[in-house]
Amino acid sequence: MSKTILTGIKPTGLIHLGNYIGAIKPALELAKIEGYKAAYFVADYHGLTKIHNAEEFRHLSYGIAATWLALGLDPEKLTFYRQSDVPEIFELNWILSCFTSKGLMNRAHAYKAIVDSNKKLEKDIDFGVNMGLFNYPILMAADILMFKTEVVPVGKDQVQHVEITRDIAESFNNIYGETFLLPEYKIQAETAVLPGLDGRKMSKSYHNTIPLFEEPKKLQKLINKIITDSLPPEAPKDPDTSPIFMLYKEFASNTEVEKMKEQYLQGIGWGDAKKELFNVMNSFIEEPREKYHELMSSPDKIDTILREGAEKARAISSPFLKEIKRKIGFNV
Ligand code: ADP
Ligand code: TRP
Repeated sequence: MSKTILTGIKPTGLIHLGNYIGAIKPALELAKIEGYKAAYFVADYHGLTKIHNAEEFRHLSYGIAATWLALGLDPEKLTFYRQSDVPEIFELNWILSCFTSKGLMNRAHAYKAIVDSNKKLEKDIDFGVNMGLFNYPILMAADILMFKTEVVPVGKDQVQHVEITRDIAESFNNIYGETFLLPEYKIQAETAVLPGLDGRKMSKSYHNTIPLFEEPKKLQKLINKIITDSLPPEAPKDPDTSPIFMLYKEFASNTEVEKMKEQYLQGIGWGDAKKELFNVMNSFIEEPREKYHELMSSPDKIDTILREGAEKARAISSPFLKEIKRKIGFNV
């Protein structure tokens, strides 16, 4: 029997290199492995916790879908859908919330971070927190448990959410017997956290991102902004601690990487290192960037693909939800 691997991305901003390297690229590679059955989706209702402008929400949701497709996701080979097209997930969300202690949600990192910041600013602890944000991990548990997921490829910051999912699944299983599978997370150790322009984690929240499908000129400008140390060009440099090398590695061939490593050790100017980075990155991105823009100009095509994906997903979620409802005492 093949294992289900599942992951989602919420439409709260343009896909950046951190998302690509930390989430999309490894997920696409995993989907190719024999014995894995992949389900990838646009976590649009998770995005609604933050984006409250209809036009922006629509644009960002299509953007996530177009990004996956442009990067080679094959909707024939895996299940690719929009979370909001699978209503069973939201019914399960409510069910699971009745088996989740509030204390567990109080400890979820995104909520806790806001509370801590509010405390520092001497505001009400829940200032700026909507219930969607507070319940966020429960909806994520529903996403995962609905499809008997075994492996969840995510970035480091999502590990806690997968652990919470396991806790919720256990609470339910303890009462009604084995129902939900306990998922494992899978993070890419080497690139678990890709640094942004300022050296901190690349993240929309820090405004330090390089959007994946940036136009060449802007891409070059952003790469030039990456912070470096002040070593002179001829000084040997450590490739392992350089964010520029870290990015280079992701887009260059093995021989190019080995060559570049040598150049670092012998001494390369940061200007040249950045130029090389731009070259490999831009030539990798060229084709998917074009495909991305093509898809974005025909959202109907995206809708059709996602709707077909949702049908496949519902063929699994609908009977499983019935089984769950029977266990808790519904006559369905
Ligand atoms: P952001 O931090 O920009 O808001 P998200 O939280 O929407 O990004 O992340 C979407 C996916 O991309 C998650 O799986 C997350 O762990 C991964 N990810 C985000 N930023 C990085 C990064 N800098 N390095 C590695 N993975 C990342
Ligand atoms: N919370 C994830 C993020 O911010 C997105 C997400 C929603 C997700 N549901 C999921 C990831 C289920 C993996 C599995 O990146």
